[in-house]
Amino acid sequence: MAESLDGTVALVTGASSGIGEATARALAAAGASVAIAARRADRLRTLADEVGALPIEADVSDQEQASSAVERTVSELGRLDTLINNAGVMLLGQIVDAPLEEWQRMIDVNVAGLLYCAHAALPHLLRAADDGPRQVADVVNVSSVAGRVARQGSGVYNLTKHGVGAFSESLRQEVASRHVRVSLIEPGAVATELRSHNRPEIQDQIEKRFSSVEVMQAEDIADAIIYIVTRPRRVAINEVLIRPSEQAD
Ligand SMILES: NC(=O)c1ccc[n+]([C@@H]2O[C@H](COP(=O)([O-])OP(=O)(O)OC[C@H]3O[C@@H](n4cnc5c(N)ncnc54)[C@H](OP(=O)(O)O)[C@@H]3O)[C@@H](O)[C@H]2O)c1
Repeated sequence: MAESLDGTVALVTGASSGIGEATARALAAAGASVAIAARRADRLRTLADEVGALPIEADVSDQEQASSAVERTVSELGRLDTLINNAGVMLLGQIVDAPLEEWQRMIDVNVAGLLYCAHAALPHLLRAADDGPRQVADVVNVSSVAGRVARQGSGVYNLTKHGVGAFSESLRQEVASRHVRVSLIEPGAVATELRSHNRPEIQDQIEKRFSSVEVMQAEDIADAIIYIVTRPRRVAINEVLIRPSEQAD
């Protein structure tokens, strides 16, 4: 049975659009106090006004901004029970002659940003699991099908998301006995802004690949995340691989 998140505090990174935004709404509806972090302050303000969240303008690829997003959550909302490590970029294309700047951005956000947030949040999550009302805390790391299966044309995105999977499993083993649950969620194609940051020719290729597939909505992933974080203390959902019904690979 789903447990209420009343009295708990969640931080969602990358909450200015897509999966993060939908997850922030769903967490607020489930009773959590929610802090929402991203770079686009205007988008955060609109969402914050709508769901009563705490907006935090932060670039998670900057270690100081990432850790101060966590510290502001704790100082303004009182604690931290749930970290949704969702901020990410997907810049696809062949490895040969790729723009190095795209690789750097993916490594900075998808890997370093996720690590900085986890590092800053863990002491607070361990405390929440010790003395919180539910005696359990959650880290949900958003990976991708691309974190399970490498494909030609997405090498460095694959690298970052496979890295998220390896880190999550290692952290899961480290903190399992202390009731901090570490979950990995691996979505297939979701209708968000994610692909719009690619070069035009790459966007055409992505469009072609998924033209005959009814892709998922951000709310579908938010649903899965809510399922993960509302399990009773004795249950940890370690990994969720979730594709559109029609997506074969
Ligand atoms: N859509 C899919 O098909 C799909 C599939 C599998 C996995 N995913 C994963 O799902 C996650 C969310 O993506 P989405 O699909 O919801 O795409 P999206 O709508 O583009 O959302 C990405 C979010 O990340 C934030 N972000 C990017 N760089 C950031 C930075 N340096 N600091 C802080 N926030 C940053 C963006 O906010 P700002 O630009 O305002 O900073 C935005 O809120 C990503 O990790 C992505 O890899 C998506």
